[in-house]
Amino acid sequence: MDKKHEEKFEFSHVPVMLYEAVDGLNVKPDGKYVDCTTGGGGHSFEIASRLNAQGRLFCFDRDPEAIEAAKKRLSPYADRITFINRNFGEVGDALDGIGIDGAIIDLGVSSYQLDNAERGFSYIKDAPLDMRMNQNDPKSAYDVVNTYSKEGLIRILRDYGEERFAPKIASYIINARENEPIKTTGQLSEIVKKAIGAMAAKDGGHPAKRTFQAIRIEVNGELAVIEPTLTALTSLLNPGGRLSVITFHSLEDRIVKQTFAKLAKGCTCPPKLPICVCGKKPQLELISKVILPSDEELKINSRSKSAKLRLAEKI
Ligand SMILES: C[S@@+](CC[C@H](N)C(=O)[O-])C[C@H]1O[C@@H](n2cnc3c(N)ncnc32)[C@H](O)[C@@H]1O
Ligand SMILES: [Zn+2]
Repeated sequence: MDKKHEEKFEFSHVPVMLYEAVDGLNVKPDGKYVDCTTGGGGHSFEIASRLNAQGRLFCFDRDPEAIEAAKKRLSPYADRITFINRNFGEVGDALDGIGIDGAIIDLGVSSYQLDNAERGFSYIKDAPLDMRMNQNDPKSAYDVVNTYSKEGLIRILRDYGEERFAPKIASYIINARENEPIKTTGQLSEIVKKAIGAMAAKDGGHPAKRTFQAIRIEVNGELAVIEPTLTALTSLLNPGGRLSVITFHSLEDRIVKQTFAKLAKGCTCPPKLPICVCGKKPQLELISKVILPSDEELKINSRSKSAKLRLAEKI
């Protein structure tokens, strides 16, 4: 990245529910912590500032640009941080049985990724269709939009965008790409507007919002890693260690809620069995109900609008 570019896209991500999420970890100064989604380093900075020289913070992000920016932002605490440029889905392998005292996940994309038009996430700014959180990954939004079958497109728009006009949008995409490939976010946004603009106006919001969310989730395989990661983190946690998870839409939140409930229940025997034969014991205790951003935060950070925080503690 050249200097000018770097200044323009200074990693300006305002952390959501910063104190609620980090206080929820009960940070011990000499403990070991994991930030699965380091991004601009907002939550990491707060965690690192609560550690002493014996403490350790493992900072994951799959986006190499996020890791570079976080290294700079967190340089005052470089002595206590290990940066790991991997998918958090690999946290179990990467940490290989290290006992940890807490982990935070702040799902989704960062403001930096959204605002930097070149990354191709934005339905407002025109740029090549990309949406990869890690630009070394093989599949981009271009591939999804130009190669998926109509049924495939309908499935992702419905399942990941909760888009009620999925069939209509898929038809318009298929028609448009018969002439030439759909190359940019602007083109895709216009196609969606043509398909459902008038109808979507009634729902409020940008007509292409749900389509872009769906394609982004597909490109990055965002939902499939959540449950296995929560399970792996729970195994790594020392007793009394905490998990703090922030989600931004109902699909993510449902997975977190259900996985926490499963790990809190332990036993997976069918309800009709009179006694437990699986022998699985509860591993997590849920801490409080779902936590929402304060009115203050909602006023100053519109990105916090749909955020939900869930906390759990290892038994
Ligand atoms: C909402 S931002 C995190 C912001 C951060 N908490 C802060 O305070 O600046 C989400 C970040 O997580 C990263 N990310 C999303 N899914 C990931 C995954 N499966 N593995 C690793 N990083 C991921 C994204 O690249 C992005 O940088
Ligand atoms: Zn059982």
